[in-house]
Amino acid sequence: MKYPDVRPRRLRYLKQIRDSVAETTLSPCDFIVPIFVDETIDSPKEISAMPGYYRYPVEHLESHINMLLELGLKNVILFGIPKTKDDLGSSAYASDGIIQRAIRMIKKWFGDEVIVFTDVCLCEYTSHGHCGIISKVVHGGIERWFVDNDVSLNYLVKTAISHAEAGADVVAPSNMMDGVVGAIRKGLDDHGFKYVGIMSYAVKYASSFYGPFREAAESAPAFGDRRSYQMDPRNKYEALKEASLDIDEGADILMVKPALPYLDVIHLVKSSYPWMPLAAYNVSGEYLMVKAASSKGYMDGDKVVMEVLYSIKRAGADLILTYHASEAARLLREGYNPF
Ligand code: PBG
Repeated sequence: MKYPDVRPRRLRYLKQIRDSVAETTLSPCDFIVPIFVDETIDSPKEISAMPGYYRYPVEHLESHINMLLELGLKNVILFGIPKTKDDLGSSAYASDGIIQRAIRMIKKWFGDEVIVFTDVCLCEYTSHGHCGIISKVVHGGIERWFVDNDVSLNYLVKTAISHAEAGADVVAPSNMMDGVVGAIRKGLDDHGFKYVGIMSYAVKYASSFYGPFREAAESAPAFGDRRSYQMDPRNKYEALKEASLDIDEGADILMVKPALPYLDVIHLVKSSYPWMPLAAYNVSGEYLMVKAASSKGYMDGDKVVMEVLYSIKRAGADLILTYHASEAARLLREGYNPF
């Protein structure tokens, strides 16, 4: 069959037909909303590199989350900005740490109405800004400082358990240490948290698109970079190695991060493991690009946001972590449809 018998345009003439044959749908349940909880402020503070996005003190989370719930947004992921940092990131796993307090309050206010995901990483809590514990290794007479994988695991497991103790529903290790998912699974099970899930940042690239987040979370590394633990942007098939390890270690949900520059990876991971729920993180730099261009009138921000989010879903993501969640949910509720 070919033209003129086949005319793809027949399905494009009318909006109603386009909507009926559209392959991808989007709803607020697809989103996980990142929330920055800041122990050092008394009122919400806009993040300068993330226009329209704020850090909140714990007391303001009730009204913020009420606003999210009104828009149908029920999944949140918490990132903490602690008062104090040290070499071992001890406020990451303190029972009265900022995240632990935030989880308790959210569960007290909202119970199971809100699903609380927590980021499990040390970078916001260590004085050096790395995602794990730093050790000195001497090899062949050469001294090197590096993030010690197996020592870091102990602290990351402690962090995950402290989140579960406070009431977190799903912990999300983002630190890219080898074996972290298995170690956390065992730690949670040993402490009776069999039903606390793990969303693994399985495929996380060493990306420059995290720049604005590092300002938001004050988590830029004080020396070096994250290339010894996060993935090389030139690699695609390595994603399958990371994903398969995390599946074997007990991950419940996988994640690819960032999203837009890695749609091929999202597609590959979803088609290789279709039974695994897949999340994608539409990161701070992706958000900033849209905001910067639309504030100057170079692009239509609403249309671009919808195209971005539908594209991430079309590539294979089931869930999207995005700073656009509330604007997108509002547009969807208004029936906004630019297609
Ligand atoms: C690590 C973490 C990072 C992000 C989420 N979790 C930063 C990093 O690896 O440097 C980035 C998210 C974003 O850019 O939106 N705790």
